Amino acid sequence: MTTPIIEMRGIQKHFGAVHALRNVNFSLMPGEILGLVGDNSAGKSTLMKVMTGAYQRDDGDVLFKGASTQFRSPQESRDVGIEMIYQDFALCGNMDVGQNIFLGRWPRKYGLFVDREKMYAEASTVLKRLKVDVNSVFQKVESLSGGRQQSVAIARAISFNPRVVIFDEPTANLSVMATERLLETMAELKKQGVAQVIISHRLTDIFEVGDRVMVLKRGENVGERYVKHTNEREVLELIVSGTPETALSADEALKRAA
Ligand SMILES: Nc1ncnc2c1ncn2[C@@H]1O[C@H](COP(=O)(O)OP(=O)(O)O)[C@@H](O)[C@H]1O
Ligand SMILES: [Mg+2]
Repeated sequence: MTTPIIEMRGIQKHFGAVHALRNVNFSLMPGEILGLVGDNSAGKSTLMKVMTGAYQRDDGDVLFKGASTQFRSPQESRDVGIEMIYQDFALCGNMDVGQNIFLGRWPRKYGLFVDREKMYAEASTVLKRLKVDVNSVFQKVESLSGGRQQSVAIARAISFNPRVVIFDEPTANLSVMATERLLETMAELKKQGVAQVIISHRLTDIFEVGDRVMVLKRGENVGERYVKHTNEREVLELIVSGTPETALSADEALKRAA
């Protein structure tokens, strides 16, 4: 059996009186696309932020390539190749595309001046690799549509050459075309062996690109299935009326069905 690129076991997280994650288990295989679904406030974003070190867990283990880790910040998980693209993109609107992609690490000349030529050339390369359609690396981000802003956020993430990418509700505000482009980008990254998590309310997206789907409800695991061996109706049923008793792993669910 292959070792998951990242695994979480028994994750607990509280925010004051809110018990956001209750003993949650999670695994992601290299090159796999996992759909993470559940109603609002189910704990999806929190679980991913615990994984990247944006939030600190109260209890449980996070294993990267089988080794126990404790990322104290997203910077630490970025260093091992984990990138999360947040719902709000976290970009600087008044800066241009190139500046955003290399935010916080603009290439320097003589350790002093920003090497603009190098920065924009590399920004163009990353955008081409993604096959995204941003007209110019000199455009201000605030002048771009939601879909293109998202492309910039993704380009920034990809420029770190990650092994794991997490997309939090990426298609929520996208046009049909932009959604298709994003799903193509995900398929392209998968070909390159990148493991991905997509949080989405749109089950069609998950059924189009996903390998496996994991359901959270009120901070608990309530089920997991291989996309090939389930359908939108069954997943919806788990989202609405799943319980800890229905929380079979995808492999267990397969065996039971056999
Ligand atoms: N930074 C925070 N401070 C306080 N409560 C939070 C914070 N982040 C999330 N929560 C709470 O944790 C629960 C899970 O939230 P979240 O992970 O955002 O759910 P989802 O992404 O599935 O919609 C919710 O009750 C939410 O209000
Ligand atoms: Mg969320």
